[in-house]
Amino acid sequence: MIVADPIDAAAVKLLSGEFEVVDVSKTPEKLSEVMPEASAILVRSRTKVNKALIDQGQKLKVIGRAGVGVDNVDLVAAGQRGIVVVNAPAAASTSVAELTVGLLVAVARNFSNHVPSMKQGKWTKGGQGLELLGRTVGFVGYGRIAREVAIRLKGFGMKVQAYDPFLTSTPDGTPLISLDELLKTSDVVSLHANATEANRHMINRDALSKMKKGAIIVNVARGALIDEQALLDALDAGQLAGVALDVFEEEPPKNPKLLAHPLIVATPHIGALTREAQERAGMVVARDVIKVLKGEKPEFPVRAQ
Ligand SMILES: NC(=O)c1ccc[n+]([C@@H]2O[C@H](COP(=O)([O-])OP(=O)(O)OC[C@H]3O[C@@H](n4cnc5c(N)ncnc54)[C@H](O)[C@@H]3O)[C@@H](O)[C@H]2O)c1
Repeated sequence: MIVADPIDAAAVKLLSGEFEVVDVSKTPEKLSEVMPEASAILVRSRTKVNKALIDQGQKLKVIGRAGVGVDNVDLVAAGQRGIVVVNAPAAASTSVAELTVGLLVAVARNFSNHVPSMKQGKWTKGGQGLELLGRTVGFVGYGRIAREVAIRLKGFGMKVQAYDPFLTSTPDGTPLISLDELLKTSDVVSLHANATEANRHMINRDALSKMKKGAIIVNVARGALIDEQALLDALDAGQLAGVALDVFEEEPPKNPKLLAHPLIVATPHIGALTREAQERAGMVVARDVIKVLKGEKPEFPVRAQ
């Protein structure tokens, strides 16, 4: 089997105990060479397991994605060949939730201006931040990560509400409301929906115009959920107090205004990048890959939508 991207060492050890592992994570140019003999391939997000690569893997039985999003795997091409795709859907929830809270505090307290100015040796206080206590956060998408964020933000004394068209109730009693109502009544809009064709640019000019003046947006889900130009215009028009982005329509982002904007706190898609999340993701996927190769049922199969 092939380890194509850097995967946690304990997971590679587990796999090596049962199968021959070829690690090309440091030599990706060798991937094509080893594909024809591989029964399994493990990736993170760097390797694109597209149809061309899948076609090279004529003995391929399973693709393991050590993480959540499977945008880098052609699920249809895999499905047509009966190749099982497995991922680690919950491995990064805590890490992403903690980053969400950190980014929200960073926007509320204007870190994006204070941190670089201190690094330049300046002592410029300028402006006032705002407290989260008593404010309302609206979650767009109320799955695993949003629920973890809710637990933490309730600890700050925030009120919580959510929009999720695929839920009829929430396990923790968080009220479900329409997107319009959420946009109109939330001080913070935190995006946690998985990106689909249907929700591309769901936060567009129209949605932004419905938001409370001075609200904050945090997006740690996927860049495609937001129309970035409309977001910049809303910031420049004074509609929003600030924005935090860990994800972008294009990564790395091509629009320099997004990164330079004084009201945007940006991080380079690091939501899942903690030691714990990577360890968990590697082990979960390694166990499932082994199960598939032994003819057992995997715990986390991914199906084409
Ligand atoms: N920043 C990062 O590094 C990072 C890491 C992991 C996951 N993510 C992103 O976070 C997303 C959420 O992860 P999760 O584990 O909570 O997923 P999840 O599947 O548990 O939850 C996603 C929720 O979004 C809802 N949803 C789908 N379409 C929607 C729409 N149009 N409007 C509102 N809600 C909608 C679904 O019903 C579901 O409840 C992932 O899909 C991924 O894109 C980012």
